Amino acid sequence: MEKHMTKMFNFTGVMIQFILNNQLVETNLPGGSILLDFIRGDQHLKGTKIGCREGDCGACTVLSGSLSDNDHVHYKTITSCLTPIINVHGKHIVTVEGIGIEAELNQVQKSMLEHNATQCGFCTPGFVIAFSGYALNKETSITGIRESISGNICRCTGYKSIEKAAVNIFEQLKHSPKGRSLDWLIKQRFIPKYFQKIPERLKKIVPLSPLKAGVLVGGGTDLYVQKAEELQGMEAIPLNQIKGLTDVFQNGTKLTIGAGLTASDMLNNELVMTALPRLKEFFQLVSSQVIRNMGTLGGNLVNASPIGDLSVLFLALNADITLLNLDTESSRKLPLKEFFKDYKKIALQKDELIQSLAIETAKTMAVNFEKVSKRTYLDIASINCAISIQLKGDEIKEIHLAAGGVAPIPKYLKNTCEFLTDKKLNAENLRKAHCVMKEEIAPISDIRGSAAYKRLLLRQLFYAHFIRLFPNRVKSSELLNV
Ligand SMILES: Cc1cc2nc3c(=O)[nH]c(=O)nc-3n(C[C@H](O)[C@H](O)[C@H](O)COP(=O)(O)OP(=O)(O)OC[C@H]3O[C@@H](n4cnc5c(N)ncnc54)[C@H](O)[C@@H]3O)c2cc1C
Ligand code: FES
Ligand code: FES
Repeated sequence: MEKHMTKMFNFTGVMIQFILNNQLVETNLPGGSILLDFIRGDQHLKGTKIGCREGDCGACTVLSGSLSDNDHVHYKTITSCLTPIINVHGKHIVTVEGIGIEAELNQVQKSMLEHNATQCGFCTPGFVIAFSGYALNKETSITGIRESISGNICRCTGYKSIEKAAVNIFEQLKHSPKGRSLDWLIKQRFIPKYFQKIPERLKKIVPLSPLKAGVLVGGGTDLYVQKAEELQGMEAIPLNQIKGLTDVFQNGTKLTIGAGLTASDMLNNELVMTALPRLKEFFQLVSSQVIRNMGTLGGNLVNASPIGDLSVLFLALNADITLLNLDTESSRKLPLKEFFKDYKKIALQKDELIQSLAIETAKTMAVNFEKVSKRTYLDIASINCAISIQLKGDEIKEIHLAAGGVAPIPKYLKNTCEFLTDKKLNAENLRKAHCVMKEEIAPISDIRGSAAYKRLLLRQLFYAHFIRLFPNRVKSSELLNV
């Protein structure tokens, strides 16, 4: 994949600038430098902790606020250990030092203290920032506040007291006026007053202009786990600043989703959610909220992990992929199932990037995604499997199935789909289809399980799709009665 590291889009002209807490900072560090090291090393703000440096523990969590069209700043959590500094140009970055109220604790910090939710304190800044991010967003559900800390690990307090603090914060926010304004949050002492002036201060930061070369980076959640040291001194090209990469639009029956969108962006997009109403449920099994705030669709495809969750889901949605040549500015389209060639080999040519994926929305396809991993949350899959299916009467009119962890690539299960097309949906045909499936997969034994275990898991996930989607037509007792 090295050949895709250097491209001609560049973003120089001005230094990288952003607001760190209440202060405008600028740096001429290479764009690939890591935000966490800048915060702690250059700015001497040691509240943000270094834990795993791999996005797993949440100790380095900060808030990243972006100015939207209506002069509103939208805040989300990010792990600063995986964030190239160029990705925060023009943003408001908030660390634990910037969330207190005039040297006093804010409401989140008070709740943590009052519920004994901190012991050694190493993880605490990450939790405080994650809860503050929840307060700044409009969400008001108890599941939402639990979800906000899905990327934070505490090794000594125990989660019960953190959960009690979460419930207390939720209770305080439950009765906030609709839309939960900044003014209200300031008045209730959730955030400091200086937040009010951030939109107008962000507007004054000049966008970066294209420069000569660098590493293409989406959210950095794969790149910085794999080669953080190598990237430190390099320039980086933020993909979400390339025009069109974060667009979503409906053209006739096709929904086009920009490859620069993160999983969270997709959840916040009305068009995507109309086409895929169960996406939130599926994405609960994908990484953690903070990683979903960063990792992009394009990054998941280019990483080409055989167990990439988004790759498997979009294969089952029978998506088409559009590749843009940066040199010629021409684009080409191909079915996503032709994109994955061999282990970590993809159909991306020199100077190309993934612009978007398109899915058909006219057909009323039932969609499902299943995943088994060692831990339910914040873990990559042992096996994952997705389906989209349309019935006509009791027959299968169209079906697309894909699975991860059973081949060197995210695998479109072509033969199984062909076998099931135009067949009656019943247990007998599904059992026969499973025999076809067994022949087109080749799982290997590794730390995620033996080959035999993975075969068994895939069978269970394959049957689970039909039991979940068509409970009146398919019974588990019939399927497993072999
Ligand atoms: C803690 C943690 C948990 C995770 N859990 C999961 C999980 O449950 N499921 C899962 O599937 N993945 C998981 N991941 C992996 C990762 O988050 C995803 O693969 C994510 O989608 C990668 O996107 P990114 O934008 O961060 O990629 P980056 O790291 O920015 O980029 C990855 C590669 O893709 C290239 N690239 C990115 N976008 C484009 C584009 N549009 N065109 C051309 N090249 C491009 C980059 O140059 C780079 O080579 C996890 C990662 C972490 C750190
Ligand atoms: S240091 Fe663990 S997530 Fe960043
Ligand atoms: S308080 Fe020690 S790790 Fe959480």
